[in-house]
Amino acid sequence: MSTLRLGDTAPDFEQDSSKGRIKFHEYLGDSWGVLFSHPADFTPVCTTELGYTSKLAQEFAKRNVKVLALSVDEAASHQKWIGDINETQNTTVDFPILADADRKVSTLYDMIHPNASATATVRSVFVIDPAKKVRLTITYPASTGRNFDEILRVIDSLQLTDQYSVATPVNWKDGEDVIILPSIQDPEVIKSKFPKGHTVVKPYLRTTPQPNK
Ligand code: BEZ
Repeated sequence: MSTLRLGDTAPDFEQDSSKGRIKFHEYLGDSWGVLFSHPADFTPVCTTELGYTSKLAQEFAKRNVKVLALSVDEAASHQKWIGDINETQNTTVDFPILADADRKVSTLYDMIHPNASATATVRSVFVIDPAKKVRLTITYPASTGRNFDEILRVIDSLQLTDQYSVATPVNWKDGEDVIILPSIQDPEVIKSKFPKGHTVVKPYLRTTPQPNK
């Protein structure tokens, strides 16, 4: 599989998981998806990442996002590891972890970078929209835990773009002003789409209050 790029269709697959067989596109249904890889079971950084992701369950649900983790071990190993995660991170992991011992999905999604490790995956994240298009890819080294608040922030930004024709500026946080997409030029359209008004800083930089607040 060549590297997946933004806008590509996320490849479908069928694989075992801690919650039984998963058919990826069927699992996602009409939801957004976050597919993210872990180098291996019983590793410290992954334990903290999965625990934190589990605690964000309501945040993902609010945004209509289904979460799917991947680790290159068997489902029985995942079950034991989930026990450790629940115990040490004070949570109950409720999303599936793909059992990718045969590296089928890791290879399909180019999650193994041989010059980093021949066998373990790097920390990949794919955000996938309801049309099954890849909307975000992130690659972190195995030794650096990811920022899952940032993943939620990007999903918020993507959903605002899709629903309201806005982009989000540097370090944007939920509730702050956003940017009207440069493709929106018709003054009547601007008036109807942005009833809270807008500010023309430069003709190409127009801000408006976050439309869904
Ligand atoms: C891990 O927890 O997955 C990990 C920690 C240090 C180096 C590499 C991986």
